[in-house]
This record gives sequence, C-alpha cells and structure tokens, in this order.
Amino acid sequence: MAKKNQTLGEFIIENQASFKYTSGELSRLINSIRLAAKVVNHEVNKAGLVDIIGAAGETNIQGEDQQKLDVYANDKFIQTLTNRNIVCGIASEEEDDFITVNSQDENHQNKYVVLIDPLDGSSNIDVNVSVGTIFSIYRRVTPVGTPVQLEDFLQKGSEQVAAGYVVYGTSTMLVYTTGDGVNGFTLNPAIGTFYLSHPNMQFPEDGKIYSVNEGNYIHFPQGVKNYIKYCQEEEGNRPYTSRYIGSLVSDFHRNMIKGGIYMYPKSSKNSNGKLRLLYECNPMAFLAEQANGKASDGFNRIMDVEPTELHQRIPFFCGSKNMVEKAEEFMRD
Ligand code: AHG
Ligand code: MN
Ligand code: MN
Repeated sequence: MAKKNQTLGEFIIENQASFKYTSGELSRLINSIRLAAKVVNHEVNKAGLVDIIGAAGETNIQGEDQQKLDVYANDKFIQTLTNRNIVCGIASEEEDDFITVNSQDENHQNKYVVLIDPLDGSSNIDVNVSVGTIFSIYRRVTPVGTPVQLEDFLQKGSEQVAAGYVVYGTSTMLVYTTGDGVNGFTLNPAIGTFYLSHPNMQFPEDGKIYSVNEGNYIHFPQGVKNYIKYCQEEEGNRPYTSRYIGSLVSDFHRNMIKGGIYMYPKSSKNSNGKLRLLYECNPMAFLAEQANGKASDGFNRIMDVEPTELHQRIPFFCGSKNMVEKAEEFMRD
C-alpha cells in the first residue's frame, strides 16, 4: 500500500512482491533509473552555467563542457544501466541502433530491455523551461542466454512491464507504473532522496486544457481543425484553455493533474506526426491508461499498434478519457 512520504527506495522494496514476475530484477532496474535521474537532474540544474561556458566558444581539452544535455543524458542513462548489468539491451532516441548489453559473464542472463527518450523537450533546455526523461521497459521475447534482437524492442505497448518519466521542473519528479496504478515521487535535492508525494495519480475524466502546437494548424487534418474549433467554442464548460510547453513530459504531467488533452497529430508536413511510438507514445500511453486516461493515434489505441521500426513516428492524442474520445469522434467524421 502506497504511503505518502515513503521514500522511493522503501516503496520499491515494499511493492516488489506485488509484481507478477518478481525476481528483484525489475526493482534493481528502477533503482538504476532513479540513480541516473539524479545525475541528470544535477546537470540540468546547472544548464545555464554550462551554456555560459559554451557561449564563450571554448572547449575543454576533453571537449566535455560542450556536450549537449541530451547527449549527456543519453550517456548517463546508458552508462548507469550497462554498468550495473541489469538489462540485456537498450534502445534510445539518440542512438541509431539498439545496444546489446553483455552480462558480466557474457551469458546474456538479463531479461529486460529498456527504451528511453533521455532528454525530452530539448528545445526548452537553453531557456530554463521544464524538460524530462521517458522510459519504457519490456521483458525480452527471444531466449535468455542469447544476444538481444530487434524483435525484443519491437513489441506492442500493451506488453510493457513498466514505464515512467522524470520531469525536471520547478521540482524534480519521478512518475512511474508497473501496471498497478501510477505513483509520483518528488526529489528533495538537499538530501538526494525521492519521496512519494503523489500516490495513485489519476487523470480527471474530463478537463479544460488542450495542448497542441497550433502553429501547425493549417497543416492539420480537417478533423483536428474541427476539434480545435470545438475547444474554442463558447458553450457549456468551453472554451477550454490552451497550454503548450513543448515538452511532452511536462504537458502530460500538467494535464494528468489538472485534466486535459495533448495532441501531436499528423500534418501535411509530417504524415506520421513527430512523436516516437517506442520512446514517447507507448510509455505515456501506459501511464495514461494506468491513470484512468486514454491514448490513441486518433483512431486506435496506441498500445495495440504493432511496431515495425525502432524510430517509428505516430500521431498522438492523450489525456482525459472524455476529451480523447471527443477528439476521436471529430477524427472519424
Ligand atoms: P525531443 O526533445 O525528445 O525531441 O521531444 C520533443 C517533442 C515533445 O516533447 C514535444 O511535445 C514536441 O516534440 C514539440 O514539438 P514541436 O516543437 O513541433 O511542437
Ligand atoms: Mn521527446
Ligand atoms: Mn529527446
């Protein structure tokens, strides 16, 4: 049972037994994500200072200070997960191909693969606006004892065993699910500990916020244009409020707390939208469904889509159930 102010470490141990494949491996994996999140958080908090060094046009002898934060985050998550030998493979938005992780004895005994968007909302780094990290965890489908294969990563979202995000905002939070609801933990930066601050998070069934990049309006399908007009109409509890940060993690987090819909539709410029099915949409869809929300590509459930490639993109509509259903209604018409 989730207890407020419990530390994330305590929570992981207490809830380990309720996980159906329990062996401690998933708990160790979440612990590693917690560690990497703290390391990245520390760097995100210094971004302005790092930028000053960068703006001077100087590179240190190792070239380290000029590493972009998304590359840094990518390296830290991959390092933490590989050093601790707890996954058999990693796929990342920042890597062309998946990474095979050899267990220490080269026997490939680990059962889980992780997919990550190490730094989500990278256009917001330089302007001190919230960014995030998204992760998604599956059990491998190929036999343990052999190197991982592409098919271990190309699984439907409904096969996820855990997913979550870190939001580096006014405070830093780690929010995740293992299929038994969604819990949010806030970092106390003074002592480097995450505490359960948001037990059992739920999307309000309905909301008043719509989040979409309206600069792309003329390129959207007619159904999306009509839905946006519906959001702006004066009727009942409408017009809704428009809020768009440009970091999926932050927009999702706000909408889950307040009630709202996030949309990244296809357009005449991007026939599949922009967001990635495996690193962004599936994990957010898993969280949304676990929090009484909904996620769709406009017509079908996101987590039922059979992936065909690692960096596949897909239109994304996600948030409060009634709002997503309404948007789908407009898409069908
Ligand atoms: P990333 O920084 O990982 O590439 O993701 C950015 C994504 C998402 O977080 C955000 O909502 C969206 O791209 C913003 O795109 P636009 O600038 O096209 O609105
Ligand atoms: Mn992203
Ligand atoms: Mn990214």
